[in-house]
Amino acid sequence: MKTIKVGLVGFGTIGTGVAKLLLLQKERISKRTGCDVQLVRIADLDTTRDRGLKLPEGMLTADYHDILNDPEISIVVQLIGGTGVERTVMLEMINAGKNIVTANKALLATYGEEIFTAARAKGVSVAFEAAVGGGIPIIAAMGESLAANEIESIHAILNGTCNFILSNMEENGSDYAPTLKEAQRLGFAEANPAMDVEGSDTAQKLSILSHIAFGIHLDWKDIPKVGIETVSGIDFRYAKLLGYSIKLLAIANRVRGVAGSPDKLELSVCPTLVKKGSPIAAVSGAYNAVSVIGDAVETSFYYGKGAGEMPTASAVVADVMDTVVGRTKITFETLNLWNREKESGENVVLAKASEVKGRYYLRVVVEDRAGVISEVTAVLANAGISISSCVQDECDEASGVPLIIMTHETTEGAVLGAIEEMKQMACVKSEPVRMRIYG
Ligand code: HSE
Repeated sequence: MKTIKVGLVGFGTIGTGVAKLLLLQKERISKRTGCDVQLVRIADLDTTRDRGLKLPEGMLTADYHDILNDPEISIVVQLIGGTGVERTVMLEMINAGKNIVTANKALLATYGEEIFTAARAKGVSVAFEAAVGGGIPIIAAMGESLAANEIESIHAILNGTCNFILSNMEENGSDYAPTLKEAQRLGFAEANPAMDVEGSDTAQKLSILSHIAFGIHLDWKDIPKVGIETVSGIDFRYAKLLGYSIKLLAIANRVRGVAGSPDKLELSVCPTLVKKGSPIAAVSGAYNAVSVIGDAVETSFYYGKGAGEMPTASAVVADVMDTVVGRTKITFETLNLWNREKESGENVVLAKASEVKGRYYLRVVVEDRAGVISEVTAVLANAGISISSCVQDECDEASGVPLIIMTHETTEGAVLGAIEEMKQMACVKSEPVRMRIYG
């Protein structure tokens, strides 16, 4: 039986899960790959912490060069998160001829072109199923199983931390700040939750999915995004009244070009009102879900754990096994991702943020006096935004009363312009909150 040696860089939560699978399920993996897949080295700066897994003597090292300089290691699982030293390590590994398996979505979303170009030049592959949706095999679905389709849209919950917080706010009628604290206490949110709650993690994942689905190469920072910090218990109360739940949704929507002009891709990450009773509204807790519409398959829906030790390790080790049997090489070469030459042939361009179409929910806290509703709605009328519903309950808060407005279809640009104008108005007491409406 052929032996394949694997090195692992990063022995944190996912790294531990990967080591468990590779070491404890060795027989299962050999049976399914026809190879003796050996985890031979793990590099992590912390070589003392007990991860609850007994490693063979000498396997753990603090120096990743022990993997880099071992010519027998042909597959490197890189599970260090970030875009600084991680980029250097990734490029060094590629240039040393290692095939890569990674979960680092920030690195791919930021340096995908550089990494994939280096890998192509070196004749090695990069697999990244775990970078989006944790244990959900969405990269394989997009890159392989849905290959016969032209993708029309993606609507997805891609961040378990945000979904956990929003679900708990909905369930307990609580506000954002105490719910975040509780999520941190329970280990569902990082001590520094910014990348998750501000929507950056979701935007990075959406940029990767969009690249595969629509052949468009974009900077994830160009995706208009709103985080979940602005969502309050009040929003859930009104959403419920109107028949909606609230999710941080990643949206990619193809708008057909007319008269030979290219299709436009509308992208956004925003707290979104989703109709109760829809599959995506039922996704609660730390779960992820992706709804994809293709021209042949129509709607398909993928659901599962988007983070965590073993669900993410499941995706990583599947990539290792695919690399061992040669499937990754084929996918890597045929998909040809982050390749400028290929992208120039695609007929899709990114819609400007101002052009992104949608329906919106606005919460505007206003002074409680005669004429205020007409002043606020006049701003929307002047921006050409049509109102589909407007709710204002009796309220004796001195700080102002929430005015809840649902719009008909408009553009992100029109809504942002109207919000800017409202911010200047004396009757508007705080920055208006906007969310999208889906379904
Ligand atoms: N922090 C992410 C989440 C998982 O909460 O879903 C890794 O991308």
